[in-house]
Amino acid sequence: MNKSIQVKDLLQGVVKINHSIRISGWVRSRRDSKAGFSFLNLHDGSCFDGIQVVADAELDNYQNQILKLTTGCSCTVEGKLVESQGKGQKLEIQATNISVLGWIDDPDKYPIAKKRHSFEYLRTVAHLRPRTNVFGAVTRVRNSAAFAIHSYFNQNNFVWVNTPIITASDCEGAGELFRVSTLDLLNMPKAKQVDFADDFFGSATYLTVSGQLNVESYCMAMSRVYTFGPTFRAENSNTSRHLAEFWMVEPEIAFANLEDDAALAEDFLKFVIAKVLEECRDDIAFFNQHVDKTLIQRLEKVCESGFDHIEYTEAIDLLIKSGKKFDFPVKWGLDMQSEHERFLCEQYFKGPVVVKNYPESIKSFYMRRNDDEKTCAAMDLLVPGIGELIGGSQREERLDILDSKMPDEKLKQELWWYRELRQYGTVPHAGFGLGFERFISYITGMENVRDAIPFPRVPGSAPF
Ligand code: 4AD
Ligand code: MG
Repeated sequence: MNKSIQVKDLLQGVVKINHSIRISGWVRSRRDSKAGFSFLNLHDGSCFDGIQVVADAELDNYQNQILKLTTGCSCTVEGKLVESQGKGQKLEIQATNISVLGWIDDPDKYPIAKKRHSFEYLRTVAHLRPRTNVFGAVTRVRNSAAFAIHSYFNQNNFVWVNTPIITASDCEGAGELFRVSTLDLLNMPKAKQVDFADDFFGSATYLTVSGQLNVESYCMAMSRVYTFGPTFRAENSNTSRHLAEFWMVEPEIAFANLEDDAALAEDFLKFVIAKVLEECRDDIAFFNQHVDKTLIQRLEKVCESGFDHIEYTEAIDLLIKSGKKFDFPVKWGLDMQSEHERFLCEQYFKGPVVVKNYPESIKSFYMRRNDDEKTCAAMDLLVPGIGELIGGSQREERLDILDSKMPDEKLKQELWWYRELRQYGTVPHAGFGLGFERFISYITGMENVRDAIPFPRVPGSAPF
């Protein structure tokens, strides 16, 4: 008897026909033939397809166990791998022994019995949803994408830097921070008297909104770096694009400007998309069939064609000339909203577009001031269906200008170490942040980022 094997390896031909195998998984379905045997479809999560198991009535436990198996039961099957006589699969297992490991208590009440459920409903059973076809596929695609991201950077001499999750500074300056504290909230002096010197770290601390500032320090020594980890934002946005806890990929490159940054973003995205298309063919085919019929065509087009570029100022002109009525009126200086971003990439460019050189007043202090002194070297990559997928910039490497862009003295003091990077061997550098869940949403066609992460955290809700 071979050691246990997984469905993916079986279907890829790792085991020869007529060899004995052992395999474990969960029953997706059971079908009984009039001829006196049953077919089980067994899944183990290793790939989109399950394997068909033929259970003969001769099996000892056929009457009292096999005929009672329902969707979700777990079992270990021993048997012979054979070519399937039936339609729909090439291989199947002729079982010689099936041991049931776990039954489904009350199959009628099983929350994800074999029928189609809405994504909204499945969020309420997030502990069980990975067992469905669709969330199994999302989970494999997410894994494959993460791996491809590391591969891309590794192949291009980037060094992965693990930036801290607890921080004392607000990188984006938007104030959407979760506080980290061990102070006894139930036993506090009046709020105004809270002294964070008494707190765990001796100062006020938060969950990070971005690893950028820390990764910049490593960029100033290693030249090409990236951070890829969880980030947190306490913004009260109940949209299909926002999570309170999400993962971000943030590369940072030295001796580089905004154009280099945009070129990196494009090359990186194309690589990762192509890798996922190749590695998760079956999962992507499923999304293409059941979730978004244009998915494969759209992703292949992204890999083949160059991204459009447009200046912010031109984009504003385009929006005005479009004659469209937007909820937020368009004029220069506008912080584009989802409606404007989506018009640009969905209706005008019909594909990914890089918008560059935004007004300085609407962007973060660390973005490099342009010679016109009105705009800064910022870029956003907008994609159809999502809007902003990437936000990045060339960084302000000149200390005097950085200082003049800092919102207040307090931040300047807190970021003394960040300022020192400009005092000691400063160089032009740039980077960006890719929202990992928005990316997963983009490559699967799953419209809501809550369905692109195992256990979503959103305002008012952190179950599981
Ligand atoms: O544009 P953002 O805020 O940029 C930064 O944080 C920079 N420090 C990145 C850098 O230059 N290193 O966020 C980057 C991306 C956005 O484009 C979006 O895809 C995603 O992160 N993002 C979110 N994704 C899910 N939920 C949220 N609440 C998000 N906020 C931003
Ligand atoms: Mg942004």
